[in-house]
Amino acid sequence: MSTRIIYTSRTGNTKMLAQRIFEAVEDDDKNICPIEEWQHDTEADTYFVGFWNNRGTCGLEICDLLDELDGRRVALFGTCGMPDNHDYYRTVEDAVKVWLPDHVDYLGCFLCQGKMPMSTRRKFEEMRNENNAREIDACIRNFDAALLHPDEDDLHRAAEFARNAGKRQG
Ligand SMILES: Cc1cc2nc3c(=O)[nH]c(=O)nc-3n(C[C@H](O)[C@H](O)[C@H](O)COP(=O)(O)O)c2cc1C
Repeated sequence: MSTRIIYTSRTGNTKMLAQRIFEAVEDDDKNICPIEEWQHDTEADTYFVGFWNNRGTCGLEICDLLDELDGRRVALFGTCGMPDNHDYYRTVEDAVKVWLPDHVDYLGCFLCQGKMPMSTRRKFEEMRNENNAREIDACIRNFDAALLHPDEDDLHRAAEFARNAGKRQG
């Protein structure tokens, strides 16, 4: 069996997951690359495709990649600024899943929180006023919590996801 891990990562969070997933995959024939270096090889058995949450979904480059994987086993993974909330993460998974071609063996999706750039916190601080203080303070608390992610537990769970996905028949 052969496995490819292809990911996009602006600030490194999704890359951390990709590397841990790569280490967890048991196939001898495996490789990992950022999407910019992907040579459009679609002959492997299994693809782990990693994305960062961009306004509730993945970027267009991930949509294009998924479109090429008809007939393959495909697992998704990614990071979100929002915390682990089953409903929200399910919405993100669904938004990305729609780009899978019809004949994919879908192996599931692993998502976890990922830190955001300091500019995001500054934007929240600038937006804060007496009318929105409660809401913005919650955003700032979430921002600060996200600074710790992906943490070791997230990476451990990503590895477990990869090992289980590798065993699934789709
Ligand atoms: C333009 C932009 C839009 C984002 N939109 C969302 C979003 O809608 N929901 C969310 O949970 N996180 C959102 N984020 C946060 C990132 O998905 C998160 O920080 C992610 O871990 C970044 O991954 P990376 O380090 O691999 O680039 C957004 C970040 C940016 C820069």
